[in-house]
Amino acid sequence: MTHDSPDDQWPASDPYIGEILITSDDLQARIGELGATITAEYEGRAPLLVCVLKGAAVFMADLSRVIDLPVEFDFMAVSSYGSSTRTSGVVRIVKDLDLDLDGRDVLLVEDIVDSGLTLSYLRKNLQARNPASLEVCALLVRESCDEDELDLRYVGFRIPDDFVLGYGLDVAEKYRNVPFIASYSGPPL
Ligand code: IMP
Ligand code: MG
Repeated sequence: MTHDSPDDQWPASDPYIGEILITSDDLQARIGELGATITAEYEGRAPLLVCVLKGAAVFMADLSRVIDLPVEFDFMAVSSYGSSTRTSGVVRIVKDLDLDLDGRDVLLVEDIVDSGLTLSYLRKNLQARNPASLEVCALLVRESCDEDELDLRYVGFRIPDDFVLGYGLDVAEKYRNVPFIASYSGPPL
């Protein structure tokens, strides 16, 4: 993919930012479709969007604004033990939700489902709080993931196994503000 729109010129040059996998325009177009689908499927309801910090914050900000319903926001932060690029599945809640999920239509908003371990933990944890419904909206899913097994209701894009950055996704806390999704081409993590 080429650097064709002005957003895709940013930043001028950083050797760690590799090939652009999803342009800013492609992100917004797909998010528009997801928003329309969610708006239709939740008609008459007021879903509670639960953002998994920090990676999903950028996605949720854009997604929420193309959902034409009275949504509410909540945020949680989890940390997983293990290496910086792979989760171990042992997840710890660092910041819990403020709102009560009892009887709510909860839509969990995730940046990327890699192994799916974080998501499985979160799903069990949130389901135990007795929501009326619990669905998942993930911007990115690895091609190696079994989407059906993970029961992902809304998916933005399927991507290959390369480590990616931008649009909320970090490498050691950097690059979250890059407006597109690119592969990481720096030293091994
Ligand atoms: P999982 O538990 O293996 O599915 O890991 C999910 C979490 O790992 C995501 O929410 C991200 O924070 C992080 N992650 C996985 N792959 C990437 C990547 O390519 N770039 C940045 N973060 C990633
Ligand atoms: Mg991360």
